[in-house]
Amino acid sequence: MIVRQRVDWKYTAILLLLLLGFVFPAAAEDVPFIQFGDRFHPVPGHGGMVVSQEALASRVGAEILRQGGNAVDAAVATGFALAVTLPQAGNIGGGGFMLVHLAERNETIAIDYREMAPAKAHRNLFLDESGNADAEKSRYSALATGVPGTVAGLVHAQEKYGKLPLRTVIAPAIKLAENGFEISYPLSFSFRYARDRLAANPAASGYFLNADGTAKAVGERLVQRDLAATLKRIANQGADGFYSGKTADLIVIQMSKSGGLIDHDDLAGYRVVERTPVWGRYRNYQVASMPPPSSGGVHLVEMLNILEGWDLESMGHNSADYLHRLIEAMRRAYADRSKYLGDPDFETVPVQALIDKDYAARLREGIATDRATPSSEVAPGLPVPEESPQTTHYSVWDADGNVVSNTYTLNFSYGNGIAVAGAGFLLNNEMDDFSAKPGVPNAFGLLGGEANAIEPRKRPLSSMTPTILFKDGDPVLATGSPGGSRIITAVLQLILNVVDFQMNIAEATAAPRIHHQWYPDTVDAEPGISPDTVARLKALGHEVKTAPWAIGRTQSISRDQSVFQGMTDYRWPGGEAVPAEGVNILQNNP
Ligand code: DON
Repeated sequence: MIVRQRVDWKYTAILLLLLLGFVFPAAAEDVPFIQFGDRFHPVPGHGGMVVSQEALASRVGAEILRQGGNAVDAAVATGFALAVTLPQAGNIGGGGFMLVHLAERNETIAIDYREMAPAKAHRNLFLDESGNADAEKSRYSALATGVPGTVAGLVHAQEKYGKLPLRTVIAPAIKLAENGFEISYPLSFSFRYARDRLAANPAASGYFLNADGTAKAVGERLVQRDLAATLKRIANQGADGFYSGKTADLIVIQMSKSGGLIDHDDLAGYRVVERTPVWGRYRNYQVASMPPPSSGGVHLVEMLNILEGWDLESMGHNSADYLHRLIEAMRRAYADRSKYLGDPDFETVPVQALIDKDYAARLREGIATDRATPSSEVAPGLPVPEESPQTTHYSVWDADGNVVSNTYTLNFSYGNGIAVAGAGFLLNNEMDDFSAKPGVPNAFGLLGGEANAIEPRKRPLSSMTPTILFKDGDPVLATGSPGGSRIITAVLQLILNVVDFQMNIAEATAAPRIHHQWYPDTVDAEPGISPDTVARLKALGHEVKTAPWAIGRTQSISRDQSVFQGMTDYRWPGGEAVPAEGVNILQNNP
């Protein structure tokens, strides 16, 4: 007994020291955001922040902020730079979605620059003679390429919402392509990973492999002269530098060489669409995210609505009780995705019905808290009919409070592996995001039906979820992720970690994630979800397996008063959070 008391005293003394040494300074007014008890800390900074999956591109964006550019200028500069430094996902041959919050107008705009099916595409494009879906065709052939939207999207954002000339924001990308840069370990790893696909196409092999067909190694320089020339045409002529003239000719020549469908009319007819974001309310926050043709925003809000009815915090982070509810919400949202989501320009997507709080309450009531519902028992719901491996995300925030959350992609790493000879860039294989045949899953195991059938000039359904969270009308968090079908669930968990579990964005990023998508009826769990928890989930009836690869790679920024905090996701090394004005926290108060 006496011994025990002595030990307690020792711990009390240590606790007191900790309180005096760490907690008190954290509570002081000049460092309001650093919680010294946290295990991980984001990068702090002033004057704005850029976070992307590739360090050189983040630095390009931050430099544009320093030169007086706004968040859109920096985002466009980062987008073009990633097309050079992260060729597996950064792109001008793909498409994506950009969410822009304009502080002065207090307006949030969703820019849709998703690829469009060529006019010659048709619903049976990927069926073989016996009517079976041919994955080889929808993923690796030139038929898999949708009309690229990236250049139109970035140029549109720049011209409408940027402050600097287009030439200024493309200049750093041109320089990186022309002078080259040292190949990092993650880049050389990804070249090795995609070597066979790249080797199959003479242009791609010339651009990204050595003459003997081996992958370029760490430390070698990657110089991309053809890409630099294409970027110069865009810098000089805007979107016309891509959709007409020499670049368009080179794309059409490549299509006829490789057997693709895109012609001059498809390129000239590509259109960017500004859409109203999907808005949700989750506890004391407002959520703005991507509307169809992405499913991201709708299902993010649908899942948040279902989960809002429970006190998640009291269950404990990543406890079995908490994860069970998460899985059941995911299962139901992805079931709805398979039926209702598609390109809103072609299909009636019941967005308001799917994000309705009463609909979520009905789904929540159907969730048993003591057992898993097999997916075979979960059909897409009937919302109230009240109305007719590689992507990359980056987030940018400027000192005036403008925010950009952007996700864009070639679909797979290096798309279909087909580069446009003479133009220096790779083509997407986004057509695989359509439903090639009802009931046949796409590369991410996602099911789709009529709403996502192929039609000429239609946009394939996406999961990209660039998102901005607001509190009392002010943006507090920008985030998004790659990861195919796992994008929506990665973004969901990042938000829950911040809102329900009060984590800073570094902790919220590092915390292990799970994923469920209705079918296959399996929970993917990252290492770090404890074996005890997995055992409890199994006892509830869930089939749980270790995630075959990391779930998402979020790139996030939060803002607490004047201090920005950035966090790249180290599930893929090589990213960086770069503030416009760095803070040396070893010497200064941020
Ligand atoms: O739009 C989509 O949902 C997919 N094409 C995204 C692909 C993706 O995230 C691959 N990445 N890791």
